[in-house]
Amino acid sequence: MPESGAQRRASWLEELEARPKAELHLHLRGAIPREFLSDRVRRYPPAQALESAPPNQLARLRRQPAIARILAASDPAEELDGLFRFDSLDQFLAAYFFTVFFVREIDDFRGLVIGLREHLLAQNITYAEVTVSIPEYLQQGLPLEGILEVLGEDPPARPKVRWIVDLVRNYGPDAAERLLERLLPLLPPTVAGLTLGGAEHLYPPQQFERVYALAREAGLGTTVHAGEALGPESVWHALDTLRVERIGHGVRAIEDPSLVSHLAEREIPLEICPTSNVRTGVYRSMEAHPVRELYEAGVPMSISTDDPTFFGISLAEELAGLRSLGFTTGEIDGLASGAFAFAFDAEAAA
Ligand code: ADE
Ligand code: ZN
Repeated sequence: MPESGAQRRASWLEELEARPKAELHLHLRGAIPREFLSDRVRRYPPAQALESAPPNQLARLRRQPAIARILAASDPAEELDGLFRFDSLDQFLAAYFFTVFFVREIDDFRGLVIGLREHLLAQNITYAEVTVSIPEYLQQGLPLEGILEVLGEDPPARPKVRWIVDLVRNYGPDAAERLLERLLPLLPPTVAGLTLGGAEHLYPPQQFERVYALAREAGLGTTVHAGEALGPESVWHALDTLRVERIGHGVRAIEDPSLVSHLAEREIPLEICPTSNVRTGVYRSMEAHPVRELYEAGVPMSISTDDPTFFGISLAEELAGLRSLGFTTGEIDGLASGAFAFAFDAEAAA
């Protein structure tokens, strides 16, 4: 019997799953294993875990119904599903931030990294650049030296992990600069780059000019979350003021045709995370996502999952999903293998 369309799609997904892949935009806590989180919310009762939060943060977190339910539950692990449902980027960011309160010891941090490696291995992701939101762990009282020791471990076996330090824009540009100055002399060779995650609309890229000048001088690869919450002007600032080499998301560049041409001509890669953009409400549906238009305009891109535990997606599924947007299997193959070429650590990715 000839293969049906569904069978062909299934075997092609299996093929995508089996092949060696690179992922360049993936947050460490975004890949937190569900069982690990369940275990930690039982170990560290949420109401107590949140006691260390400054009052304004606590109020913001409590306003999220899913978090309020977890705080009120007799078994908080039973209420975790709600954390992975959100209608907006702000709601998602609150849910994401909430999880840091359950990383209380260096051993918890190490547990995240072990979980990440298992996640990568299970998906045949042989090279990953993983974003680690350092100030959030420092706020939890973890010692910087301990964090850097874990990040510096570089087992010879694949997956090869290179770290992208996220200075988290919500702490503001002065704190970001001070932290980077403190970090630079201590960074292990496994740290390949710098980014800013968090609320782009509250802390737009241009506020961080000095931070990026420092990072560039120190030889770090540079990227920034831009063109996700804000439009093309934010991507222009990322390019002209921060002079980044890649853009995290960048998808709202589509709103300015001259910017789209610029990205294509200068060959600036976008780290595109389609499911993330739909789940956080940047686009109302996958059909409304501009990834195809950007691709046709010649903008270089890699495809990533951003926060796979929160968005419930694997890299192979993310790639396969592009079929419904008009990508051919050959084009998707090209995107999957092309990601290695945009790595900050070209040697490690080879
Ligand atoms: N941190 C984790 N995921 C993020 C996203 N999509 N945007 C900004 N900050 C983030
Ligand atoms: Zn991200």
